[in-house]
Amino acid sequence: MNMVKATAAEGAIELVPDVHWVGALDPGLRSFDIILKTANGTTYNSYVVRGSAGVAVIDTVKESFSDTFFRRLESVADYGEITTIVLNHLEPDHSGALPELLRRAPQAKLYISSRGGPMLKGLLHGEQLAYQPTRTGMEVDLGDRKLRFLQTPFLHWPDTQCTWLEDAGVLFSGDAFGCHFCDPRLFNDNVGDFRFSFDYYYAHLMRPFRSRVLDALELIEPLPLKVIAPAHGPILRDAPDRYVARYRELSASRLKNEAAEEKTLIIFYLSAYGSTRAMAESLAAGAEDATGVRVSLYDIEGGEVSPFVDLIEEADGLAFGSPTINGDAVKPVWDLLSSLAAVDIKGKLGAAFGSYGWSGEAVPMVEDRLRGLKLRVPVKGVRARLVPTPEELAQCRELGRELALHLTGRQESTEIDMAALA
Ligand code: FEO
Repeated sequence: MNMVKATAAEGAIELVPDVHWVGALDPGLRSFDIILKTANGTTYNSYVVRGSAGVAVIDTVKESFSDTFFRRLESVADYGEITTIVLNHLEPDHSGALPELLRRAPQAKLYISSRGGPMLKGLLHGEQLAYQPTRTGMEVDLGDRKLRFLQTPFLHWPDTQCTWLEDAGVLFSGDAFGCHFCDPRLFNDNVGDFRFSFDYYYAHLMRPFRSRVLDALELIEPLPLKVIAPAHGPILRDAPDRYVARYRELSASRLKNEAAEEKTLIIFYLSAYGSTRAMAESLAAGAEDATGVRVSLYDIEGGEVSPFVDLIEEADGLAFGSPTINGDAVKPVWDLLSSLAAVDIKGKLGAAFGSYGWSGEAVPMVEDRLRGLKLRVPVKGVRARLVPTPEELAQCRELGRELALHLTGRQESTEIDMAALA
């Protein structure tokens, strides 16, 4: 391949014959979707594919960059030639210019994934846009070349898909394999070092759906890739397979469970005077009474959030111990719980416990948060006033035992009757 050192300061940029980048550069952006840092901005990548019987536009740009997009698009195609518009993903950074594009090219058919339909309606209130729902293997004929769709849901929205241009070996991958990295030299062999941005983007957008990433890789890895053309950041024409391999690497389990046949229960706690710690230790002892569960105990005060998040991602069950201070769970517990949006924890087992002085709100508040994160909370948590009594420690031990039985599938869902235990 001819590695031309083009830059995107002006006009459209050719990736391969009759395939052009017509996107927009946003070098001043410093945060994306509020939560992602973007040290040197981003790009909104849009592409034009010319065939003998039609022109396809793949993705558009954020609405505020429409003028740039249309100028570049007009440099390589007339609106009357556009037969096909593909949106690999409907988030507004890619669908922003869609309504205007359809006004300028009303004859074009719009292709989005079937899950995109309700989103299209929600995003474009008042606009009734007709669309063709896609499925894996479905093709669009452009005459001498074809586009083929691959459904890759949850990379990172339900609607996400990829589009494959077989004759040129180009995969238009949407947000997948992208990153927020703005460099007008566009191609991965020309731009600055973007490895950090690539991994950071994966960690925040793809990691919560890593099982879906692995499903998508099953579709993508067999393709004879020459170029990956993502919706953000550098176009990957030099060794694109390396980036596919990186996704597989990042989606693999970070921590090897040495006792893979055992279920794992992790107990996190904080303790001001040792009461919640004593409860955590009793809970651990109870879980260990039941066979088949490997129990780990961590004082949150002595660790960093990031490795804890890795542990949580791999665990089967999680118990959080927090004292109640000023009517709330303590901040390090909330900090850890608020970091879990980046990992897939849906369906894990959760529980809460902790000591309190006079009100004891922390346990139900943590339980609510765990339910909000879609964990199962099958056993009611244990609270102990000030210093736990032997009876309260016994309740903790029973909580641990019940959690272990749930983890190993030996217990149907029941809740401890606290009144009966009082
Ligand atoms: Fe680049 Fe999910 O939008």
